[in-house]
Amino acid sequence: MIKLDALYSGKAKTIFKTDNPQKLIMEFRDSLTAFDGKKKSTAPKKGYYNARISEELFRLLEEGGIKTHFDSMLSDTEMVVDAVEIIKIEVIVRNIAAGSLIRKYPFKPGQKLDPPILLLDYKSDEYSDPMINDDIALALGLATREELLKIRELALRINSILVEYLNDRDLLLPDFKLEFGRRNGDIVLADEISCDTCRFWDKMTGESLDKDVFRYDKGDLASAYREVARRIVPGISL
Ligand code: TMP
Ligand code: ASP
Repeated sequence: MIKLDALYSGKAKTIFKTDNPQKLIMEFRDSLTAFDGKKKSTAPKKGYYNARISEELFRLLEEGGIKTHFDSMLSDTEMVVDAVEIIKIEVIVRNIAAGSLIRKYPFKPGQKLDPPILLLDYKSDEYSDPMINDDIALALGLATREELLKIRELALRINSILVEYLNDRDLLLPDFKLEFGRRNGDIVLADEISCDTCRFWDKMTGESLDKDVFRYDKGDLASAYREVARRIVPGISL
């Protein structure tokens, strides 16, 4: 496979075209931002840890019957993925109250949410990812009613698989963000599942092992991501 020009460079990943129009290369970088890009930094090996965590979780989900855009790893930080049409909706699944949920609503921090709460944001830097509902998604033409139903069902199945897997590795999953894409008339999981897009808490201590370490200056980001990689990716070299 030949890596061609960059198609798009986001805050933490760059997407490259390849000589196969059906495939893209997603490169995980060491840079990161928070609060709509207002806070910026880099952390050593962050791209590596996130790429390997995403790889492992995509493989796990594929084994559980969830279709994803994952194809293979080209290197430790470069993932080959299917070229899908990204649906401009960020799907957030919440199992424990944290983050913006406790800022905006009277949930107690750490309160268990059973059944999980599913929220939708419009994926738009211009509008700062505002929260939407099915009616807005339909009116904006972001997805069809059938697609929204399918996305909801997939997000909840993904949540069950991840919660169980992570629990066995002494990690809680308070919340996470998913993106989906269209591939040959089907909906598949896209983007990444990593310490940038999930909250991971140590089951015993409740310590944050994710991007909250950077958002709220809670310690060393690389150490937190390394610890998640160690627990999630069997045999990873750290
Ligand atoms: P929030 O509590 O800040 O709304 O975040 C909910 C989850 O979504 C959390 O696990 C982090 C993830 N997330 C992203 O992946 N991208 C974002 O831009 C934001 C704001 C949150
Ligand atoms: N990813 C978003 C940003 O870079 C927000 C966040 O994750 O907190 O601004």
